[in-house]
Amino acid sequence: MTTLTKEAGTPSPAGAGTLLSVRDLHVSFKTEDGIVKAVNGLSFDLQRGRTLGIVGESGSGKSVTNLTVLGLHNPQFTTVEGEILLEGQELTTARESELEKLRGNKVAMIFQDPLTALSPYYTVGRQIAEPYMKHNGASKRAAWDRAVEMLGKVGIPNPKERAKDYPHQFSGGMRQRAMIAMALVCDPDLLIADEPTTALDVTVQAQILDLLKDLQQEFGTGIIFITHDLGVIADMADDIMVMYAGGAVERGTVDEVLRSPQHPYTWGLLNSMPRLDADLDAPLEPIPGAPPSLLTPPSGCPFHPRCTFQDRVEFRDRCVDVRPLLGPDRGSACHLTAEQKRTIFIEEIKPRLG
Ligand SMILES: Nc1ncnc2c1ncn2[C@@H]1O[C@H](COP(=O)(O)OP(=O)(O)OP(=O)(O)O)[C@@H](O)[C@H]1O
Ligand SMILES: [Mg+2]
Repeated sequence: MTTLTKEAGTPSPAGAGTLLSVRDLHVSFKTEDGIVKAVNGLSFDLQRGRTLGIVGESGSGKSVTNLTVLGLHNPQFTTVEGEILLEGQELTTARESELEKLRGNKVAMIFQDPLTALSPYYTVGRQIAEPYMKHNGASKRAAWDRAVEMLGKVGIPNPKERAKDYPHQFSGGMRQRAMIAMALVCDPDLLIADEPTTALDVTVQAQILDLLKDLQQEFGTGIIFITHDLGVIADMADDIMVMYAGGAVERGTVDEVLRSPQHPYTWGLLNSMPRLDADLDAPLEPIPGAPPSLLTPPSGCPFHPRCTFQDRVEFRDRCVDVRPLLGPDRGSACHLTAEQKRTIFIEEIKPRLG
């Protein structure tokens, strides 16, 4: 059964200084079980030189969104609707040859597992030099020198010699650095980092994060940083977007979202008391229920089946029927005002928690 969902709110246009602008993005996959609606009406902006952190449970559409920006889905099974503007260039309708020119050049990506990006058959130096030759028309010699320079920049000791090594001769942390060198060799305007440090130990993770910050300072790169680690987000990001069921449910600066989260899902995610009531610091009850099916998403607000507030008679119809949308500015996709949530929280939820 499908329920028609009305939508509230309209995304506003992007402003100057915007590097990437995503508007009303929908991505769905044809599968044997039906159509998986992985991204549903997502809008966001990334400003030049800033870092946008994306958080959300597993399956909320973080990776799909970013792979769509890079045009990496198989068009045979994927439907993409909406707008993705990179410095004004529309990517959803771009030809594969145009996307090829952008990937590794204007836009680069780093992943959790560097071995998905590095080939075992070529030296690390060659793999960093290759995109530089391809996109800049540099000579073999110049590209090799550039690869050595990049390896030095990402903190590989003795880069001249190490450039001749194969990936298996590098440690995990060094491979991650090599992948970053490869991603940054063409000085991309946009870097997408999808859990780039999850597999690394804490010390190496801290070094890689510092490295990314330094390189961002140097090159002015806009970064989209996806992670489950809110500590990393607090450290790395300027802005945060919280995703749920393929949409944004809250966004703002790191300070705004971490200090005064507005969406009931964000509260659960932060696993802390909403700062609606300053004298209360008991932990919040975990969010009951499971993430929704993307084959048959819930009507209205996708979070309503799990939300503490949806069973209130006065809000129920709206929460069940109308999907609250979030534009690219600070806010949360919730029908209730902060004041309404605060009142219910103090009068009903707080006494229940004891
Ligand atoms: N090629 C595909 N075909 C069908 N479904 C897909 C495909 N790629 C992703 N999905 C589905 O889309 C949804 C969103 O996936 P996505 O990988 O974006 O999640 P995520 O937020 O990155 O999660 P995680 O934190 O686990 O990395 C999931 O339900 C996933 O199973
Ligand atoms: Mg992912």
